[in-house]
Amino acid sequence: MSSRASFIFLCFFSFLTCFKVSAQNQDHTYLYHICPNTTTYSGNSTYLTNLRTVLASLSSRNSPYSTGFQNATAGKAPDRVTGLFLCRGDLSPEVCRRCVTFAVNDTFNRCPKERVVVVYYDECMLRYSNESILSTLSTGGGMYMWNNQNVTSNQLDQFKDLVASTMNQAATEAANSPRKFSARTANFTRLRSLYGLVQCTPDLTRQDCLSCLQQSINQLPTDKIGGRFIMHSCNSRYELYAFYNESAITIPSPPPPPPRPVSAPPVSAPPRPAMLIGKVSFFFV
Ligand SMILES: *[C@@H]1O[C@H](CO)[C@@H](O)[C@H](O)[C@H]1NC(C)=O
Ligand SMILES: *[C@@H]1O[C@H](CO)[C@@H](O)[C@H](O)[C@H]1NC(C)=O
Ligand SMILES: *[C@@H]1O[C@H](CO)[C@@H](O)[C@H](O)[C@H]1NC(C)=O
Ligand SMILES: *[C@@H]1O[C@H](CO)[C@@H](O)[C@H](O)[C@H]1NC(C)=O
Ligand SMILES: *[C@@H]1O[C@H](CO)[C@@H](O)[C@H](O)[C@H]1NC(C)=O
Ligand SMILES: *[C@@H]1O[C@H](CO)[C@@H](O)[C@H](O)[C@H]1NC(C)=O
Ligand SMILES: *[C@@H]1O[C@H](CO)[C@@H](O)[C@H](O)[C@H]1NC(C)=O
Ligand SMILES: *[C@@H]1O[C@H](CO)[C@@H](O)[C@H](O)[C@H]1NC(C)=O
Repeated sequence: MSSRASFIFLCFFSFLTCFKVSAQNQDHTYLYHICPNTTTYSGNSTYLTNLRTVLASLSSRNSPYSTGFQNATAGKAPDRVTGLFLCRGDLSPEVCRRCVTFAVNDTFNRCPKERVVVVYYDECMLRYSNESILSTLSTGGGMYMWNNQNVTSNQLDQFKDLVASTMNQAATEAANSPRKFSARTANFTRLRSLYGLVQCTPDLTRQDCLSCLQQSINQLPTDKIGGRFIMHSCNSRYELYAFYNESAITIPSPPPPPPRPVSAPPVSAPPRPAMLIGKVSFFFV
């Protein structure tokens, strides 16, 4: 694209809105969408036909929901459409499928005539464009979320260090793994654990994934008890509660001793704190 522009949006949601968001169906908790109205196509266009082909392919029965990632392409330039989905790495194929099925319909409600679209849910992301978006690092589509509860001031330094070390370790693990996903826990206090999760789209190289995650992690707040930064190519999140399914994560063992099965504690479901969608920014490059 020719012009380079950046926008910073500030939006504040009431607690009520936030509770409504977190009370939605667990298979598809909508977070945010970006579809610039400078990229519209016309009603019965070839683009729409190609888009429908791509979305049908992504949400088809044969899609590899167990890997949590799929891409599809249809048509020729300038009406060529490339689309992909990414499901959170701990989710079952069934939950992934339901989120994608919802997303391919929901996108027409949120972005009825835009070529360039990304829709984020807690469980999955759907993205498509007339540009070649595959195997290409994109740090656009950036979005912050944070828990509005502050870390106690006398624990700030300790918390910040723990978030940084946990998330950076997870980023290295994710970049080196085929699925480009990792989740880790660490002890914060005797009673509270930190849970971190990072993920790239698995079409990225190791280097691009690591670079993306480092940028994402650098945007995380560390004075809040939970935060995330989501972009086109990767995302990172930490909380003081188990927001992902710990049983679904294979815990990597250190190289020297042979891998042994590790029994994870049962997933407890404490009430989810309200999320405040804070500062939202995105960049076209
Ligand atoms: C695009 O969105 C901007 C900001 O929301 C609005 O001011 C503008 O009128 C819109 N343009 C079109 C063509 O819809
Ligand atoms: C994609 O669409 C945008 C406008 O919607 C256009 O500026 C751009 O040139 C298109 N890219 C390709 C590869 O066709
Ligand atoms: C799309 O095509 C149908 C029939 O082919 C026509 O009735 C309708 O008016 C068209 N819509 C647009 C927006 O061109
Ligand atoms: C798709 O969205 C429309 C509009 O919100 C809704 O009426 C319809 O039931 C949805 N279809 C599916 C299959 O979810
Ligand atoms: C968190 O701290 C900020 C100032 O650092 C303050 O403005 C805000 O009200 C605090 N939030 C809560 C929920 O206590
Ligand atoms: C957390 O602390 C417990 C004991 O207090 C220990 O068994 C466990 O290995 C620690 N977990 C991590 C991730 O360090
Ligand atoms: C895109 O999808 C095709 C068909 O499923 C697959 O063969 C290819 O490896 C995928 N490309 C990437 C970059 O994931
Ligand atoms: C968590 O993952 C395990 C192992 O994949 C699975 O058996 C279990 O049903 C999952 N729990 C939830 C709540 O999704």
